[in-house]
Amino acid sequence: MARVFSGIQPSGDLHLGNLLGALVNWVNHQEEHEAVYCIVDLHALTLPKDPEELRSSTLELAQLLMAVGLDPDKCTLFVQSHVPEHSQLAWLMECTVSYGELSRMTAFKDKSDRSEFISAGLFTYPALQAADILLYDTDLVPVGDDQRQHIEITRDIAERFNHRFGETFVVPEHVIPPAGARIMDLQHPERKMSKSQHSVNGTINVLENPDSVRKKIKRAVTDSDGEIRFDFESKAGVSNLLSILGAAKGDSPEEVAKSFERYGDLKSAAADAVVDLLLPIQERYADLQADPAETRRLLQAGAEKAQEVASRTLTRTQQNCGLLQA
Ligand code: TRP
Repeated sequence: MARVFSGIQPSGDLHLGNLLGALVNWVNHQEEHEAVYCIVDLHALTLPKDPEELRSSTLELAQLLMAVGLDPDKCTLFVQSHVPEHSQLAWLMECTVSYGELSRMTAFKDKSDRSEFISAGLFTYPALQAADILLYDTDLVPVGDDQRQHIEITRDIAERFNHRFGETFVVPEHVIPPAGARIMDLQHPERKMSKSQHSVNGTINVLENPDSVRKKIKRAVTDSDGEIRFDFESKAGVSNLLSILGAAKGDSPEEVAKSFERYGDLKSAAADAVVDLLLPIQERYADLQADPAETRRLLQAGAEKAQEVASRTLTRTQQNCGLLQA
């Protein structure tokens, strides 16, 4: 069975784009593969964070992921800092990657342009991400196209280490999720739905109440030619609604387009589908929130399962690069 690994930062809330774009695939992967999912709290520290907020958003994200369908019996779900091997391997990765390679990362350039305090951790972020992935002998990494460079550098690090010190790491492949589920901002359909752009009316939160969901979809930007077809180039707003409805129902947007003639009807159907999708998630989330001790217990069990694999990989890596065994 192939091993799948992915990571998600505990920053801000989950929105419909995360749900339909990535998490639906994560849920599917746990059926077909050996899936390992990590809440990357150490990566979150690369930018300034309020301690209480980080703590609560880590727990909340775990509960949201379980509410969405990640099942601790079927996958390994854990918090990065609970498995110290991540930090330990990250140092060895930092010593395997070059300053020049890290300087070419576009994510670093974007984030450092927007940040006043540029931590060294922000610069070496990809070394920690490589450690995350390589610790689990990962075959497949399902992440968005924006992570392409980070997966490439992980592969380069793995290959370089194997070349210098002998076979140590599995070289992972990047799997880009199916294109259909690219969910765009409802107000600016030319850009991805995103928690960082502060587009309140363009973003639907997974925990948003039905009234608000309906209002936002009703107000979504369309166009004036009155035609319903899936064509992102010239009809981004309408196409986005078709993507949302299609993804929520498990149909292709092209197929969905055939059933509607009026924008108003498309919007009502999309709103109903999103509300139907979110309500059971919100109910499960409320149940999990009622018992945080249980969530922590599940996360601890997840960390123990993860650590079994991670500690073996770390020991092998330490031996191969010449550290004296303790
Ligand atoms: N950098 C990823 C992001 O911003 C998060 C991440 C950290 C990750 N470690 C990972 C993703 C390992 C995949 C695999 O989305």
